[in-house]
Amino acid sequence: MIIAIDGPSGAGKSTVAKAVARELGFSCLDTGAMYRAVAWRALRDGVALDDEEGLGRIARECEISFVHGSGDPMPRGVAVDGVDVSAAIREAEIDRAVSPVSAVSAVREALVEQQQRIGRSGDYVVEGRDIGTVVFPEAPVKVFLTASAEERAHRRVRQNVDRGVGSIDYDEVLAGIRRRDEIDSSRASSPLRAAEDAARIDSTGRFIEDVIGDICALARRAVGARVDGDGSEGAR
Ligand code: DC
Repeated sequence: MIIAIDGPSGAGKSTVAKAVARELGFSCLDTGAMYRAVAWRALRDGVALDDEEGLGRIARECEISFVHGSGDPMPRGVAVDGVDVSAAIREAEIDRAVSPVSAVSAVREALVEQQQRIGRSGDYVVEGRDIGTVVFPEAPVKVFLTASAEERAHRRVRQNVDRGVGSIDYDEVLAGIRRRDEIDSSRASSPLRAAEDAARIDSTGRFIEDVIGDICALARRAVGARVDGDGSEGAR
């Protein structure tokens, strides 16, 4: 079963996705990390951010895999062609490069295919921007998680301090979030928008535990409906 969690940067998707996955015994797929991985390879190889053909080739050819810590079923990071880029993809230069990279249709096509393949292999909480609209439109649980840009910037700064990577300058982070919101929502290919049948949840001013509780309740109802409806909990 797929639980789709979409929304803008810093809305709390990763925290919520991990907690919901742990609660339900699902795996987690961070699709943003995959776009970041392609952006990292492009910068490393000197492929220009407006070279759509070159970016599409990278997305088709590079091998993106998830890195697991010992004993933890949740991936803690991502590797590109065997190189652990978990920290590198959170750097400010990737924050800047990833929106133009993710606006390229050929990049999206290649990554969506990989995401569908991974998601079909088990029960997943999948987070991104187009999961409920494009990647898994048939997902029985779809959440569109938002928060004000200011709150998202505060959270991102705290996260960067904790991780020890990325900018910790609030104004810089806020400007970056606004810039990415604009590009992500206005791009021609799969712009950020809520699926019509998504539950819209605004996490501004709320404890993250309460948001997690709401989404787990939605997910449990969907799992229950599947079991009651056709006896196949794993159906998608
Ligand atoms: O969630 P994130 O900040 O790590 O995402 C990085 C970028 O990738 C962001 O600019 C939006 C883009 N993205 C996307 O276009 N589609 C997805 N499914 C996930 C992320």
